Amino acid sequence: MPQEVRGVVAKAKGAPVSIETIVIPDPGPGEVVVAIAACGVCHTDLHYREGGINDEFPFLLGHEAAGTVESVGEGVTNVEPGDFVVLNWRAVCGQCRSCRKGKPNLCFNTHNAMQKMTLLDGTELSPALGIGAFCDKTLVAAGQATKVDPAAPAAAAGLLGCGVMAGLGAAMNTGGVGRGDSVAVFGCGGVGDAAIAGAKLAGATTIVAVDLDDRKLDWAKEFGATHTVNSGTSDAVAAIQEATGGFGADVCIDAVGHPAVYRQCFEARDLAGTVVLVGVPRPDMTLELPFIEVFGRGGALKSSWYGDCLPERDFPMLIDLYLQGRLDLDRFVSERIGLDDVEAAFHKMEQGEVLRSVVEIVPGA
Ligand SMILES: NC(=O)c1ccc[n+]([C@@H]2O[C@H](COP(=O)([O-])OP(=O)(O)OC[C@H]3O[C@@H](n4cnc5c(N)ncnc54)[C@H](O)[C@@H]3O)[C@@H](O)[C@H]2O)c1
Ligand SMILES: [Zn+2]
Ligand SMILES: [Zn+2]
Repeated sequence: MPQEVRGVVAKAKGAPVSIETIVIPDPGPGEVVVAIAACGVCHTDLHYREGGINDEFPFLLGHEAAGTVESVGEGVTNVEPGDFVVLNWRAVCGQCRSCRKGKPNLCFNTHNAMQKMTLLDGTELSPALGIGAFCDKTLVAAGQATKVDPAAPAAAAGLLGCGVMAGLGAAMNTGGVGRGDSVAVFGCGGVGDAAIAGAKLAGATTIVAVDLDDRKLDWAKEFGATHTVNSGTSDAVAAIQEATGGFGADVCIDAVGHPAVYRQCFEARDLAGTVVLVGVPRPDMTLELPFIEVFGRGGALKSSWYGDCLPERDFPMLIDLYLQGRLDLDRFVSERIGLDDVEAAFHKMEQGEVLRSVVEIVPGA
């Protein structure tokens, strides 16, 4: 029987979100229904609401979530009802040309549920990043649900579903940060602070945090930044060189997605170092670099999709590190809110007042 639950829907470009009754079909083959326990508010949800991703309104927002599998469709073997799961937005196919080359983290054919969730009048919803989790329950492809240790609280675990995984992975996977490396992270929001935490976990000894907002720089220190630079008032490239014996950082991470920031990353990097772009640029942006320097400095200019994570490999491992006290996911949670508060949370995000607002769902509320 299809179920009717509450969901946060963006109906039109720029319009405030509203709580609507949404219809969740029973899971079909390869699909699962998940009862959401917690879902973080990510910048990408706001991008959807602003029409910055595409025009396929209405959107069911939310995609950084953890919950419990309620029911599974035919042929689902990776999870069963009752499992505590973190949702992911890159369920790998196992068959595309990238998967076949042994690079499933780059899968070119990731998939979502086949059936649609709808409004009461039958209007089909576009779930944010193929998830849609500001709701009591959602329908996803089984591969989007990754089982993790239920000892972890949902508000912390769910963060791995998007921004925190992207940041941790930008440092640990894409950037390949290792013991003794120097790392500079530009943009200390949820993604950048996770990159700082990832760099620390991977053994970096110098971690320079760069932001325009001093409050963000204070928080960055709590995640492991050894140096901070306000790039609005000082020269970030010079400060990073100074912090690294005059050379530049081994790995520079752009967690903003702006050409000027990328250029600073490019210049603040040591010879043969790596630039990682994890922030998402706007479609109208272009980049200009001195071509001879692209050659002369060597190294690698890389993009990080979802932190190059493999959910099945990385989510359980990171939850274990969290439970051992080695990765402080709770520190990302600035406030716990209800479904009604998502619009207010967007405003706080725009004002830079929060790292992550996390919606907690109280069953039956
Ligand atoms: N690659 C991925 O898979 C992936 C996944 C999730 C999010 N993202 C992207 O990562 C980016 C960061 O997300 P977030 O949630 O941390 O956002 P956020 O808004 O919380 O943080 C951005 C930070 O950058 C700072 N900033 C802005 N302009 C700056 C500049 N010119 N120089 C230095 N700092 C500057 C802001 O003060 C803020 O602290 C976004 O573009 C988001 O879309 C990418
Ligand atoms: Zn694939
Ligand atoms: Zn996100």
